[in-house]
Amino acid sequence: MSNWQELEHKYFMSTVERVPVTLVRGQGARVWDEDGREYLDFVGGWAVNSLGHCHPVVAKAVAEQAQTLIQTSNQFYTIPQIHLAELLVQNSCLDKVFFCNSGAEANEGAVKLARRYGKLHLNGAYEVITAMGSFHGRTLAMVAASGQSKFQQPYVPLPVGFINVEYNNIEAIKAATTNKTCAVMLEPVEGEGGVNLPDDNYLAAVRAWCDQTGILLILDEIQTGIGRMGTLFAYEQYGAEPDIMTLAKGLASGVPIGAILAKERASVFTPGEHGSTFGGNPLACAAGYATLKFIIDNDIAGNAKKVGQYLVTGLEGLRQKFQFVTDVRGRGLLVAMEFSSDIAQSVVMTCLDRGLLVNRLKPNAVRFIPPLIISNDEVDEALGILDVALSSIS
Ligand SMILES: Cc1ncc(COP(=O)(O)O)c(C=O)c1O
Repeated sequence: MSNWQELEHKYFMSTVERVPVTLVRGQGARVWDEDGREYLDFVGGWAVNSLGHCHPVVAKAVAEQAQTLIQTSNQFYTIPQIHLAELLVQNSCLDKVFFCNSGAEANEGAVKLARRYGKLHLNGAYEVITAMGSFHGRTLAMVAASGQSKFQQPYVPLPVGFINVEYNNIEAIKAATTNKTCAVMLEPVEGEGGVNLPDDNYLAAVRAWCDQTGILLILDEIQTGIGRMGTLFAYEQYGAEPDIMTLAKGLASGVPIGAILAKERASVFTPGEHGSTFGGNPLACAAGYATLKFIIDNDIAGNAKKVGQYLVTGLEGLRQKFQFVTDVRGRGLLVAMEFSSDIAQSVVMTCLDRGLLVNRLKPNAVRFIPPLIISNDEVDEALGILDVALSSIS
């Protein structure tokens, strides 16, 4: 064990089972450890490094902004946040933006916004319907929102106002809707919960129900957005425009940022009702603008779609070859492979030994969430390593 790992055990709270490798450098879809070993990165900072590691456009924007203006307070106007907000609005169905620092924080703000809307327009309705298997973040309220008992049980009692219903079941949402409901909050595809894809008409049916009842639809696009699913936002593929949408992860290609976007009618905060010290700081927004502009101008979402299809086809080939691979699912570059038994950890470790980083999604599934700029050649390389790894496990 290297010194870094000993020091980590000594000084850090133990909240994550880390893979025993210390990464020191990254470029494109590759990272290097402290001994100079190279890895092909199909974890991508947990779906964050949309343009890969240290993309020159992002690095340049950050370096320039760091020498110009890093942080003011939101008491003042700053230019990078206005540029980024304009770009987001011009390229989505939403009208207004609030910036924060993470996904959980964006979702918290979205729920506050929905509750505010409920107070103003729905006779004080405050409940938010969410889905089982969802993941919306680690704050107490987002733990209550995330319909997974493993995240909830250690912290009961949880904040009230969240109803978890079966995912991909419109009747469950209808049955849970009461005069206390102000919104439905869903991931278009459940990422952390298993890369669970809904039926094609599910989100449109939820949209229609929200329209019929007057409640808001919040889409958590923190993992699915910014091109990962093959379109800039996943809602474009499902015919369901949200009233509120949250973003984080890939928005600044690795620099921490979160965003709440809302349609004009749902944008009901007034001064003092919400805020953030660091949210919208010039440094993060410069990184976000550089990332998003590059993604849009170079159709990186199109690349994610094309290379994602190539990846899924290759993984399907491995499913044919190895009987214990029971499922391959995903869209764009949000893809999972499931096994008949709990071998995900040994798949992760065997791939690591051979220079490929993959994410353990569940005891019996791994997830592929690489940078959106990867090529078919890099996919071939990953598939080759995975093939050898699966052969050694079977
Ligand atoms: C869909 C979704 N929402 C929210 C979050 C929480 O984001 P953060 O870890 O930035 O708080 C995640 C993180 O995995 C996520 O996948």
